[in-house]
Amino acid sequence: MTKQVALRQAGRTITVAEGVTILDAALAEGIAYPHGCRSGRCGSCKSRLVSGSVELLEHSRFALSQEEKAQGLILACRAIPTTDASVAWIGGDEEAPSHPRRRLNGRVTAIENATHDIKHVQLAIEGADPLAFAAGQYARLTFPGAPTRDYSMASGPSEPTLEFHIRRVPGGAATRRIHALLKPDDPVWVEGPFGSSYLREQHAGPILCIAGGSGLAPIKGIVEAALAGGMKQPIHVYFGARSDRDLYLVDHFEALAQRHANLRFTPVVSSAPAEVRWRTGLVTEAVAQDLHDLDGWKAYVAGPPPMVEAAMQLGTARGLRSEDLHADVFFTPEAASASH
Ligand code: FES
Repeated sequence: MTKQVALRQAGRTITVAEGVTILDAALAEGIAYPHGCRSGRCGSCKSRLVSGSVELLEHSRFALSQEEKAQGLILACRAIPTTDASVAWIGGDEEAPSHPRRRLNGRVTAIENATHDIKHVQLAIEGADPLAFAAGQYARLTFPGAPTRDYSMASGPSEPTLEFHIRRVPGGAATRRIHALLKPDDPVWVEGPFGSSYLREQHAGPILCIAGGSGLAPIKGIVEAALAGGMKQPIHVYFGARSDRDLYLVDHFEALAQRHANLRFTPVVSSAPAEVRWRTGLVTEAVAQDLHDLDGWKAYVAGPPPMVEAAMQLGTARGLRSEDLHADVFFTPEAASASH
């Protein structure tokens, strides 16, 4: 049976079909409900259940704690209404970007290897104004012959081309095709922007960025936009990779840190590195060793689910306010269906 759910900020009531989450129903109606991972891992869709009741599907306890649940908060991406209900999202803040979502034609302008399994892809929009977005957001890309997938912009909003870092996912149909066949001049369909883990330009306190693997893409966009916008507070970037061969853009970030005294860049390798200059261990362990009090900080986290979960745990333990943690969870559709 369908349920009627009133969305406070949108000023609308939507019909939610049996077994459908509030977030999916809202997005299908074209409502810009704040969200990120759509899988209960990032907390971006956190909302207050004003009235009614919902069934909450499995989710990370760092995305929504027991205490928050007791206070009447829910995750819209994991909430299936069991009665008519009314909800108010809390993830959208005063800095919510208002860029319209668009569908655009684009073309590949460059593709090269960033690592043994990450391609660096540049796209240009054709026949329309460039895609307007906030640094750190993502787009939905469809390359010829490949299924549609979400990828974060690694470029800043003012750059003429869109940059993406596309990791080959074992068994992944889209990335297998992209890695094997994509070439300059190929067409691409771009839809976006999406995502709530974008740079908050009004934040004046220190900034912590934690990236794992190709999660460096949105972090690059955020850091470059912050520096280009003249943000002067300390910006600490930790980049975690499995081994030396999984590190990329290190020279780029080190050069940025040379030019900007407020930027610190720390690559961390989890298996024994060939070069002694890298820190070793988990990237979140390195952060824990260096930063003891995160009260007043803003954290941007992008990477695989275990890394994001460890970062959320660390942030909570070190005094980071939950509204100051913006997480972008990189997981594959295959992994998503296996983990819930
Ligand atoms: S979008 Fe709901 S927890 Fe990430």
